[in-house]
Amino acid sequence: MGGLGTMSARAWKIVASFSPSWETSLVSTSGPGGLARVLEGAGGVFLIADRSVASLHTAWLEAALGGRVLGSALIEADERLKSMSTAGGIIAEMSDSGLMREGFVVGFGGGLVCDVAALCASLWLRGVNLVLVPTSLLCMADACLGGKTAVNYRRARNQVGTFYPAGAVVVDTALLETLPEREVRSGLGEILKTALVSGDAALGGLLADLAARPLPPDAASEAVELCLRVKRDIAVGDPLERGRRRILNLGHTFGHALESARGFDLTHGEAVALGCIVAARMAEALGGSPGLSVEVAGLASSLGLPCAPGKAVRGSMSRFLGRDKKSTSEGRAWILPFGWGDCRQVLLERTRERELLGAALEADA
Ligand SMILES: NC(=O)c1ccc[n+]([C@@H]2O[C@H](COP(=O)([O-])OP(=O)(O)OC[C@H]3O[C@@H](n4cnc5c(N)ncnc54)[C@H](O)[C@@H]3O)[C@@H](O)[C@H]2O)c1
Repeated sequence: MGGLGTMSARAWKIVASFSPSWETSLVSTSGPGGLARVLEGAGGVFLIADRSVASLHTAWLEAALGGRVLGSALIEADERLKSMSTAGGIIAEMSDSGLMREGFVVGFGGGLVCDVAALCASLWLRGVNLVLVPTSLLCMADACLGGKTAVNYRRARNQVGTFYPAGAVVVDTALLETLPEREVRSGLGEILKTALVSGDAALGGLLADLAARPLPPDAASEAVELCLRVKRDIAVGDPLERGRRRILNLGHTFGHALESARGFDLTHGEAVALGCIVAARMAEALGGSPGLSVEVAGLASSLGLPCAPGKAVRGSMSRFLGRDKKSTSEGRAWILPFGWGDCRQVLLERTRERELLGAALEADA
């Protein structure tokens, strides 16, 4: 077990209304009953699950799904398999299962599986009901909310996708008991990003608690709830990410390119934490809060996350930076933290970007 202590059943419910017809209801639950309630009256269910997580939680799934399952696809949580080909295979299974418009897709796994499940649900019959059950800390605190679906394309991260918010998200932190320690820390990396974006003092304080051992029993549930509230408050006003929502991508321009350049040997949360440190260094060079990057790196280190991006990756990164979705003909938009709770989008033309990024990576020398 990943060192999260005994999970409590803190009850919370968050509603994210993206539009009158796009609403996500997120509930904390204890045990499989929460998912069973969401599926009451469901026509039929197609399960898309992380193979290894499903095998660890078979009894949970059986109790939640009962006899409703029409078919299932069990997939590996491997970024190299988060692909069009995997999505195509799942859609073929959905077709064979006879899943109809009133049916439900249930995604059960970490962010990777939930992204793929949501993409398939959005495509099949132009969209069927979607329920997500996140099983990693990162997915509970971030990926399960907001409607971004995706697969990677030609090794570049999340290049193909749709916006398709789940109707319901069921969070049972007891599922984290089997999450490996490194993946717990990966989740803390994404929570660190949310703390920096929001400047939320409670979340910052909680992160310090989460770094400590033993953890307060309900720390994970409380951190998840706070992160989801921050994300909900930012995402609902900009569901298609045309403006303010972009600040949630803090750490991702560098992080995604680093993940691809290194052939996915870092976890997503590790890459995002490194991306936050690099972004903070770049912001300092542009007049941001002095010492912020050292503070962020110190926190990352205390959470057991890597805190030195290293110069070695510089050469191989430019190809993948070019695939960033915030690239334009004039340059690339970076989300930079000028202080806690003060993230801004800054358009950097190529030469300026090279200078700032080069200096930020040089700091590890
Ligand atoms: N859609 C969004 O808004 C959004 C936001 C952030 C990240 N993401 C995506 O999410 C992915 C990263 O998510 P992740 O960190 O959850 O990665 P993941 O889904 O790859 O899971 C990480 C590892 O943890 C394992 N795991 C998950 N739950 C477990 C459990 N309960 N017990 C034991 N093992 C468990 C998985 O099998 C995998 O090996 C990336 O693909 C990223 O692009 C999407």
